[in-house]
Amino acid sequence: MFSLQLFSANPNPFLRPKPYPKSKRTHVSSVLQWNRKPELAGETPRVVVITSGKGGVGKTTTTANVGLSLARLGFSVVAIDADVGLRNLDLLLGLESRVNYTVVEVLNGDCRLDQALVRDKRWSNFELLCISKPRSKLPIGFGGKALVWLVDALKAREGGSPDFIIIDCPAGIDAGFITAITPANEAVLVTTPDITSLRDADRVTGLLECDGIRDIKMIVNRVRTDMIKGEDMMSVLDVQEMLGLALLGVIPEDSEVIRSTNRGYPLVLNNPPTLAGLAFEQAAWRLVEQDSMKAVMAEEEPKKRGFFSFFGG
Ligand SMILES: Nc1ncnc2c1ncn2[C@@H]1O[C@H](COP(=O)(O)OP(=O)(O)O)[C@@H](O)[C@H]1O
Ligand SMILES: [Mg+2]
Repeated sequence: MFSLQLFSANPNPFLRPKPYPKSKRTHVSSVLQWNRKPELAGETPRVVVITSGKGGVGKTTTTANVGLSLARLGFSVVAIDADVGLRNLDLLLGLESRVNYTVVEVLNGDCRLDQALVRDKRWSNFELLCISKPRSKLPIGFGGKALVWLVDALKAREGGSPDFIIIDCPAGIDAGFITAITPANEAVLVTTPDITSLRDADRVTGLLECDGIRDIKMIVNRVRTDMIKGEDMMSVLDVQEMLGLALLGVIPEDSEVIRSTNRGYPLVLNNPPTLAGLAFEQAAWRLVEQDSMKAVMAEEEPKKRGFFSFFGG
């Protein structure tokens, strides 16, 4: 049984309009309460970059929710915010007030690596690492090699190497993108079912392959079955056929995502869980097992295995 220890509300009142739930300790019922733990496939640490090409499609949301789901499954996770100019993973996680040092200070010798790692109080096996202070530029000389050094340093840590290192990639395909993908050996490509996002995703897939990253899976985010049925949105099957990538997860459009972002309380921790939260948890499960899912036509949904079946089997 998973349980969630809630802690006191974040001190920033501007960003935190809603108080946290009243109870100190609450049980989370979720799809992860299956009677087994997923089996970790592949060599650890698994270094996974979350990328998209286009901005605003849900990379940071995916990093926070998949990252915390992995931690809840019992794996140790370090999430690196490599979106230097527009750093916001700390905000989504509600950890912004605790980031005192960044990788830039580590490289300058102003602090140790463990001082720059921010441990989540809810799940102590989840740590956040930011490259630099908000609104700062990528430091001169900071590139792929520096990130490889960082990943090696995390592997060699006294407490042992983490199971997962997840890198939140900046939008675009310029220097920041190249830096972020350099140490990765697998990628999760986030796309929305629209033509601009798909074109960027296709371009990014080519660049990832050129960089030697062969294990690329996609998450289709902000899916609306009502629009798919009305033929106003591409189906997940269409997206998969266009990109030709294995499907890690399908995340529905969910207003709870925005609410949870503003509260600094990732969706997967919500009780009761929301549809998008459950979908992120399922994606994390598949990531662990290097599994993928099948896209099905929206019309097939009621015949299948109930409530969640329209996301595939
Ligand atoms: N499934 C979803 N449903 C509703 N809103 C979403 C969903 N996924 C992301 N969003 C919203 O989209 C915006 C961009 O998400 P973000 O993760 O910051 O994108 P990126 O990191 O790719 O720029 C945020 O406001 C976020 O709350
Ligand atoms: Mg982002």
